[in-house]
Amino acid sequence: MVKLIGPKQKIKLAVFISGTGSNLKNLIKHSLLKKSSFRIELIISNNSKAKGLNFAKKYKIKKKIVNYRNNKYVEKEILNTVRKYKIELICLAGFMKILSENFIKKFKGKIINIHPSLLPKYKGLNTHERAIKQKENYSGCTVHFVNSKLDSGKIILQKKVKISKKDTPKSLGKKILKQEHLLYKKAIEKIYFNS
Ligand code: GRF
Repeated sequence: MVKLIGPKQKIKLAVFISGTGSNLKNLIKHSLLKKSSFRIELIISNNSKAKGLNFAKKYKIKKKIVNYRNNKYVEKEILNTVRKYKIELICLAGFMKILSENFIKKFKGKIINIHPSLLPKYKGLNTHERAIKQKENYSGCTVHFVNSKLDSGKIILQKKVKISKKDTPKSLGKKILKQEHLLYKKAIEKIYFNS
């Protein structure tokens, strides 16, 4: 792909969150650099109390809160919003809802996720606890494309993290999260520039 020049041509991202939003924060920070190939156009949260929503105000980014109790319409609402802002890439960052096959089809190859394990190991929840229990020497994080099977799409980038004997799920989670913050932006740059 040809390298893009100038801020107007930056890739338009939507970041989907449910909680703290530390990955979101790090993506925003990177997006503000001149060298960044993307900018965050929209934040979507299924949780009106998500801490990460504060970054919308702080960095003047449009936000949309969606209500999953109204399941039938919620994805339509998301779809309309994402289309309205001409979003080119959806980044899931701690988004605790599963998108339907139909939704994923509509954005084929344009939805990515960050997961706190070395996929294909430890899909789903409680990854750090399970890795420690299995006496793994390493865990880590993975950025991957989203397909209709949970945490199973094509891997874009991974980072290994050593598990020490003293690690608890909490301490390991902290170490991995630090690496997630570096990995996510790299993975997005890789999609567009293969670098
Ligand atoms: C991260 O560990 C991410 O890998 C997982 O959910 C967590 C979100 O953390 N999917 P944050 O909200 O970005 O701080």
